[in-house]
Amino acid sequence: MEIKAIILAAGKGTRMQSETPKVLHKIMDKTLLGYVLDNVKNWVTESFVIVGHHAEEVEKFVKDNYRTAKTVLQSPQLGTGHAVSMVCPFLENYRGQVIILCGDTPLITEKTLKNFVEYHNSNKSDLTVMSTIFENPTNYGRIIRDTDNSLKCIVEEKDAAPEQRAVKEVNAGIYCLNWGKIKDAFSQLSSNNAQNEYYLTDIIEWGKAQKLNVNAYILKNNEEIYGINSRINLAEAAKMMNNRKLNELMTNGVTIVDPECTWISEDTEIGQDTIIYPSTYIEGKNTIGRNCKIGPFAHLRGGVELADNVKIGNFVEVKKSKISSNTNAGHLSYIGDSEVGAHVNIGAGTITANYNPITKVKSKTVLKDNVKIGSNAVLVAPVTVEEGANVGAGGVITKDIKARALAITRAPLKIVENWIKQ
Ligand code: UD1
Ligand code: MG
Repeated sequence: MEIKAIILAAGKGTRMQSETPKVLHKIMDKTLLGYVLDNVKNWVTESFVIVGHHAEEVEKFVKDNYRTAKTVLQSPQLGTGHAVSMVCPFLENYRGQVIILCGDTPLITEKTLKNFVEYHNSNKSDLTVMSTIFENPTNYGRIIRDTDNSLKCIVEEKDAAPEQRAVKEVNAGIYCLNWGKIKDAFSQLSSNNAQNEYYLTDIIEWGKAQKLNVNAYILKNNEEIYGINSRINLAEAAKMMNNRKLNELMTNGVTIVDPECTWISEDTEIGQDTIIYPSTYIEGKNTIGRNCKIGPFAHLRGGVELADNVKIGNFVEVKKSKISSNTNAGHLSYIGDSEVGAHVNIGAGTITANYNPITKVKSKTVLKDNVKIGSNAVLVAPVTVEEGANVGAGGVITKDIKARALAITRAPLKIVENWIKQ
């Protein structure tokens, strides 16, 4: 059945203490909202992002990065149920399914969401809510079940009686619904509760009263629904996400010498037997081949493609560059917007000067196979060094260099003897 997504992202995020809207805060160079949208973009037909607080910024982010997603303004923000109701005019005749997510829970995975929808379908459910168990359920809505264990309703902490507060099964804030069956609920919600808000959670009781098939899917790994409300949560979520990634890589045959001080983004792929040395930071989307050696203290900033047997050593920064096999950049270099061939040696301190701060234009550096660049060279882009050419140490290269040529820009060495009078 067709499925669309609604992502709630209009809330204020007061506890972030920030001028930046909460959902645009980042973990490893990707926004919280980006993680949520990436989890659904390949299998839903349309995504609606509910925006409100700092709406223009969130709208711009969505427009620039997720062209198929729509933003819908919620102003004022009267609660999660009110937020979803903003989409009703767009889905008047829609008969498919809708998955509802929050923009501030970046740890949820695509696999879990698909299992959740699968559960909804195999139970022929009209409405399914995701729940999980927390030893400390503070702040979450509690899942209240009937004596026969079937779902009854969700009670928010602020509305809960003491015995309800003791319940450890909580609402994860993720829902799957058959839109045609549930959509009428949104015009019937009331704000008669402790927060005077229209609660999305009330659709459970509404569905039960309509004798619809309402179920809860219990998620075992409660880490996935960890929501971000503060900078402390942000740092914690980043750690969790990083640990998950490092464990996955190690399981697949990548050596991480010190997982305590290595950061690798979710969108980085690394081949078998590559070794990542400590204090390496790899953000954005990258592909690293087999048998590479990265770090210690390396920084890959996204858009990096390394073939097999590549060495990126200490204090080397690489951005948006493609590097072929058996190439070394061992020490203290910056390689940006570059295409580097195989068996290239990039001497210590080499810099690709890819950015002109006056024209604000970024240009490309091309180093063909077997090129050798001496230490401390500056390759002023746009520039191409053809196959097998050598650049002498300290060279400032402003013109293309022909194959197998030597380029040196060095002033002749002058030695003045007896310079210091005795
Ligand atoms: C909500 C649930 C709670 C659940 C928890 C899981 C309700 C009433 N409660 O509580 O049962 O355990 O999530 O994290 O739904 N938002 C809007 N517009 C609004 C209000 C909120 O878009 O008017 C967005 C927020 O930006 C956020 C999401 O909805 O992304 C959840 O809102 P939040 O205020 O964090 O709800 P919780 O109190 O956490
Ligand atoms: Mg919340």
